[in-house]
Amino acid sequence: MFVFAFLLLALSGLSGTLGTPQLEPQVQGTLHRRTYLYVGQTYIPQGNSSIAADQMYVEHLTPATITQPLPILFIHGQGMTGTNLLNTPDGRLGWADYFLSKGYEMYVVDQPSRGRSPWQPTVDGVLVPFDTFTVESHFTAVEQYKLWPQAVLHTQWPGSGSVGDPVFDRFYASTVPSLNSTTEEAMKIKSAGSLLLDQIGPVILMTHSQAGEFGWILADSRPNQVKAIVALEPYGPPFINAIFPPLTPNRIYGLTDLPVAYDPPITQASDIGRTVVSEIPGVTCFQQTEPARKLINLVDIPVLAVTSEASYHAQYDNCSVAYLRQAGVSVEHISLGDVGIHGNAHMFFMEKNGLQIVDQVIKPWISKIRK
Ligand SMILES: *[C@@H]1O[C@H](CO)[C@@H](O)[C@H](O)[C@H]1NC(C)=O
Ligand SMILES: *[C@@H]1O[C@H](CO)[C@@H](O)[C@H](O)[C@H]1NC(C)=O
Ligand SMILES: *[C@@H]1O[C@H](CO)[C@@H](O)[C@H](O)[C@H]1NC(C)=O
Repeated sequence: MFVFAFLLLALSGLSGTLGTPQLEPQVQGTLHRRTYLYVGQTYIPQGNSSIAADQMYVEHLTPATITQPLPILFIHGQGMTGTNLLNTPDGRLGWADYFLSKGYEMYVVDQPSRGRSPWQPTVDGVLVPFDTFTVESHFTAVEQYKLWPQAVLHTQWPGSGSVGDPVFDRFYASTVPSLNSTTEEAMKIKSAGSLLLDQIGPVILMTHSQAGEFGWILADSRPNQVKAIVALEPYGPPFINAIFPPLTPNRIYGLTDLPVAYDPPITQASDIGRTVVSEIPGVTCFQQTEPARKLINLVDIPVLAVTSEASYHAQYDNCSVAYLRQAGVSVEHISLGDVGIHGNAHMFFMEKNGLQIVDQVIKPWISKIRK
């Protein structure tokens, strides 16, 4: 049952207890109501009783006045939870607040088996954490590690991005272990996410990173319930890992680990012909062999792909976008550096200029999407 009380989003004042220095003064956000729901649970017999698995936590944020026709459903990436879109680690307002302030209803999930979505040790696969080296070198202090050429351009993370910096420490504290198998996660998201779309759709689906593939999978599963996809540095490139060794095969259905509908249809992943179209150090770019099959359930859904200037995705998002376009999907690809927004890496929505990015790049594009 809903409690019809509006909550004023007041970010914590971060009282100066040991190890958590005061970072930002209290910031008031947009008036909204917060509720949550769970979708997709399965009862699993256990002895003479049962437990539940597979359910997904969905946080529902409703502004005092909804002025936009479609809600936004956000799915975070590997190692993360829905906190990604709430406040930033240095206590500023996050993208969720921005969208609420523009009259969008928001749904922000924790992927199944992660965060507030339970992981059941007797049912679910092994969890793996992001260690601090991975977070620093891939996301927050990429300019120090220089694992790809564009990394040196990174300037927008608040603070040094390294262990011991209070903002890094707060961000790292928010990371959580994730299922080691993205295929397992994809199956859970497909099941729970499809039920969620049946309940709340149609929506604008916004994905980040690992969840990029969940965007294609959910749109394939419920094409009428997804009116647009905003893919923030989506999981890629097609068919093979890039940049970070081992550069092994992955995403056997192109951009997904699960089968999606192609036209002409496929009966197995190997039916999709592959050709190398470009190669740079660390990135082998495959497209389909012509004539290319269409991703038939995605061809009517507009996609905005966004890539930051200093992220490892700057090395291969063009290849993933080319794959989608070849398969008949209409994709607008915005590289932030090309529109005068410089110095961002993979977690750009929580970086110093995060609100500039959503206001100048995301909002103008989604405001054209109709129900
Ligand atoms: C279920 O099993 C537990 C022990 O495994 C036992 O203590 C309990 O009484 C059983 N409950 C029922 C309803 O049989
Ligand atoms: C995670 O999966 C990879 C293969 O995809 C495997 O090499 C690794 O051992 C797994 N990690 C754990 C902790 O099971
Ligand atoms: C993607 O960009 C790289 C340069 O970063 C270029 O070498 C490659 O040809 C591009 N690939 C496609 C498919 O556009």
